[in-house]
Amino acid sequence: MDLFSLRAPLMILTAISCCSCSPLLPLKISGVEGKYATFPLTVPASFQPNAVKFSFVSSAGESIAVYDRVAEKVTVPPAYNGRVVYNQTTYEFQLGPLNPADAGQYSVVLVDAGFNLNQGQTTLEVLEPVADVTIFSSLPEAVEFNSTVILTCSAKGSFVSYKWQNGSAPVVVDGKHLVLNGSQLTVTEVLRTDLHGPIYCVAENQLESVMSAPFTLSVSYGPESIALNKVPDDVVLKEGSNLTLLCSAISSPAAELKWLFDGDELPQKGSRLVLTNLGKNQSGKYSCVAYNSKTKRFAVSQVATVSVVGSVNLYCAQNVYVVDKV
Ligand SMILES: *[C@@H]1O[C@H](CO)[C@@H](O)[C@H](O)[C@H]1NC(C)=O
Ligand SMILES: *[C@@H]1O[C@H](CO)[C@@H](O)[C@H](O)[C@H]1NC(C)=O
Ligand SMILES: *[C@@H]1O[C@H](CO)[C@@H](O)[C@H](O)[C@H]1NC(C)=O
Ligand SMILES: *[C@@H]1O[C@H](CO)[C@@H](O)[C@H](O)[C@H]1NC(C)=O
Ligand SMILES: *[C@@H]1O[C@H](CO)[C@@H](O)[C@H](O)[C@H]1NC(C)=O
Repeated sequence: MDLFSLRAPLMILTAISCCSCSPLLPLKISGVEGKYATFPLTVPASFQPNAVKFSFVSSAGESIAVYDRVAEKVTVPPAYNGRVVYNQTTYEFQLGPLNPADAGQYSVVLVDAGFNLNQGQTTLEVLEPVADVTIFSSLPEAVEFNSTVILTCSAKGSFVSYKWQNGSAPVVVDGKHLVLNGSQLTVTEVLRTDLHGPIYCVAENQLESVMSAPFTLSVSYGPESIALNKVPDDVVLKEGSNLTLLCSAISSPAAELKWLFDGDELPQKGSRLVLTNLGKNQSGKYSCVAYNSKTKRFAVSQVATVSVVGSVNLYCAQNVYVVDKV
């Protein structure tokens, strides 16, 4: 005698009347394609199931057996062979590896030795796995203060939402400089430190969370804090002596450095201007100019004044200089 066919009309009645009062199953269960979904049954401690029937309810309302157990006799139809596991201790069904066709309604009916029923229904949602989480930048490189950088996170998968991480801390947006909109993080007037991160995007749904590769963007800045130094640091130098001028600036990429003498560009380039065997005609005003080819910005140093005097006139010249200054 088939216990289930006998009891079928009663079961349907129970199903209608008992949907919300005795939830044997949670209302909704989610699983990821290719993985297993767990159907946890909440069975009262006083209830000792003797028969278990787990079914898929097609969209047409037809009940298709997935797993059927009466006492020790288990029947699994070929379509579910090896795909369904029932744990009699924990009352848990495992179904998988899931494919999209597994999504839909499931019902479970438990019957005890006294033909008392306990049943439940649930909906299984099969999520596409989260994969290919990638950050795209609207710009390949950026200029500090000028560029607005839009980072877009892209990912495959169902119901994916995005989070951003700056190193190991979450990105904190302020709605102005940093704005978050769905999968996009917009950095307005980017600063040199903004995208050093590394920045990560985390794409997640209720079951999975996948992190992108680390992302950094080079932000050009400067030149700034330009400094000119002289060795020796004397204003008055003896004819025939040597002088080294050093120029530095904070810049990324490194600034191109040029030298000016009384306003004219010298042929020498670079951070160091070495003048040997000074002549009197090298008296004048020296300065350096830093240029960053990415930011297209310039910085000009202070002027270093040098007086080259004949050794005989050194004392005199020093006096002249002092008088000059006063
Ligand atoms: C059922 O679950 C329990 C607890 O997790 C576990 O110890 C047991 O091995 C499981 N039984 C089967 C048949 O998987
Ligand atoms: C957020 O993005 C959506 C779609 O790209 C766009 O329509 C909307 O205007 C954006 N909102 C803000 C505040 O930028
Ligand atoms: C990341 O952290 C650094 C250091 O705190 C900060 O300067 C920068 O603006 C942050 N960037 C983003 C995108 O949150
Ligand atoms: C100046 O530099 C040249 C070349 O480095 C060196 O030979 C010379 O001795 C230096 N002169 C003085 C006064 O230090
Ligand atoms: C930066 O912005 C200024 C002002 O809008 C503009 O003149 C300049 O050309 C920009 N620099 C670069 C490198 O785009």
